[in-house]
Amino acid sequence: MNMMNPDISLSDEAPVSEPERQYYYIEKAKQYVKEEGEALGRTLTFCVTTFGCQMNARDSEKLRGILLKIGYVEAAEDEADFVIYNTCTVRENANTRVYGRLGQLKPRKKQNPHMMIGLCGCMMQEPEVVEKLKKSYRFVDIIFGTHNIYKFAELIVTRYESKRMVIDIWKDTDKIVEDLPNERKYAFKSGVNIMFGCNNFCSYCIVPYVRGRERSREPQAIIREIERLAADGVSEVMLLGQNVNSYGKTLEHPITFAELLEEIEKIDGIHRIRFMTSHPKDLSDDLIAVMGRSKKICRHLHLPVQSGSTRILEKMNRRYTKEQYLELVRKIRAAVPDISLTTDIIVGFPGETEEDFQETLDVVRQVRYDSAFTFIYSRRTGTPAAVMEDQIPEDVIKDRFDRLLNEVQTIASSVCAVHEGSVQEVLVESVSEHDHTMVTGRLSNNLLVHFPGDKSLIGSYVDVHLTECKGFYYIGKKI
Ligand code: SAH
Ligand code: SF4
Ligand code: F3S
Repeated sequence: MNMMNPDISLSDEAPVSEPERQYYYIEKAKQYVKEEGEALGRTLTFCVTTFGCQMNARDSEKLRGILLKIGYVEAAEDEADFVIYNTCTVRENANTRVYGRLGQLKPRKKQNPHMMIGLCGCMMQEPEVVEKLKKSYRFVDIIFGTHNIYKFAELIVTRYESKRMVIDIWKDTDKIVEDLPNERKYAFKSGVNIMFGCNNFCSYCIVPYVRGRERSREPQAIIREIERLAADGVSEVMLLGQNVNSYGKTLEHPITFAELLEEIEKIDGIHRIRFMTSHPKDLSDDLIAVMGRSKKICRHLHLPVQSGSTRILEKMNRRYTKEQYLELVRKIRAAVPDISLTTDIIVGFPGETEEDFQETLDVVRQVRYDSAFTFIYSRRTGTPAAVMEDQIPEDVIKDRFDRLLNEVQTIASSVCAVHEGSVQEVLVESVSEHDHTMVTGRLSNNLLVHFPGDKSLIGSYVDVHLTECKGFYYIGKKI
C-alpha cells in the first residue's frame, strides 16, 4: 500500500479508466524520482518553458501540476534536471527557435546524463518535426503532442522503465480527461479551457492541423472547475478556446456560449470573467446582449479582424466581410459603450495589394482599437495559403507593417488616454517590475495601472484614480 495515497497500490495493474490511471502513474513516477533524488543526494528539479498562446500557457500549468505531484521542485531552466519545452508552431520561425534552444541543451545533457528533456505542444504534431528529432536530436527523452498531455506521468514512467526515447503523438482525439492536477501561475486568477481544437481552417493557419477538431467540455465540468477555483481564492477567470463563440455546438445537449456565460456569472466569488478568442463570424446577438447586462464580464473584447479587405478575408477563409465586421463593432459598442476592443492583424497575405492594405488601415481608423497584435504573414508549410500564388516580397510587407504599427500605436495611445482622471476598480496583480514601491493592477478593460502600494494588495480589488496616461498604461493613486 502506498502511504501517500492509500487507494493506489502499485503492486496492482494500472487502472484502465482516466483519470485514475494517471494518478496510479503519478505514484509510480514518484518512486522513480525519489530513488534518483536519493542517488544524487538532493530533490530533482524541473522547468517548463512555454511558447505560444494562452492555450499552451494553460497546458503548461497542467504539466507543472503533474511534476509537482511526482515530487519535482521548480527551478530555473539552466539548473533544472528536467527541461520541458511546450512548443508553438504558428509561425515558421517559432520552430527554428526551439531547435536552437535544443542545440544549447545538448552539451549540458552530455555532462549530466541523468538530465531529462521533454518536448510537447503544437510543433510536435507535425510529422516532419518528429522525424527530424528522431534523426538529429536523439538526446531528447520524451516527445508528446497536444492531445495526450494528460498522460505525462505515464510517459515519464515509460521513460524510466524503457530507458529509451519515448514518442507518443496522437493525430486527433475526441477524449477530454477531467480532474487532473494543475498548478496555476497566479493565486487569484486562472485560465479555464472551455473547448479544444478548431474547425475553421483559416487558410494561413496551422492551428486546426495541430490542435485537432473542435470539441467542447461539458458545461457541468466547466462550472465545477470554476466553483473549485473560486473556493481556492480565484476571482478572475479567462475562458479559453480558439473560437469560444462556437462553444457547445457539438455537445450531446447543445448549449451556447452566451448561456454558459450566464451560468458562470452565477458563481459566487467570481468577480471578473474574460474570454478569448472570439471569431467575428460566430459572435451572436445573444452574446452581445449578455455582455451588455453582465456585472462580471470584463469591458474588453478581443476580436481578430486579420484584414480589412473583403477580398483578402475571402481568401483567408474568414467568412465575414469588412462591412459585417464593422457592423458587429457598432452593435457591441451600442450594447457596451465603454468596451475596449483589441484585434489581430496579418500583413502581407498572398495577393494583398496596396488597396487591400488601405482597407485594413481604414478598419483600424474606424474601430480605433485599444491595441492590436500585428503579424507579418508567415508562409506556414501545410496550409492552403502557403501554396497560393503572389506571395508578397519581404520589403513590401515590411513597409506596410511599419505603417500599420505606426497607425495602431498613435490611435491606441489616444484611446487609452480617454480614461485619464477617472476612478476605476483594478485587480492588483504584482509588485511593479521596475519600482518596488509600486504595484501593478489590471482594469476591467485590460489596461494596466501602476500605483504606490505593496505586496499585501496582490489579489485584491481596489479603486484607483488614473492620474496620468503613459501611452499604453497609467500611473495612478489608490483612493
Ligand atoms: N483562434 C484565434 C487565433 C489563434 S492564432 C483566432 O482565430 O483569432 C493567433 C494569431 O496568430 C491569429 O489571430 C493570426 O493573426 C496570427 N497568425 C496565425 N497564423 C499566422 C500566419 N501564418 N502568419 C502570420 N500570423 C498568423
Ligand atoms: Fe487559426 Fe482561424 Fe482557427 Fe483562429 S479560427 S485558430 S486563426 S484557423
Ligand atoms: Fe501556437 Fe499552438 Fe497556440 S500553434 S498559437 S501554441 S494553439
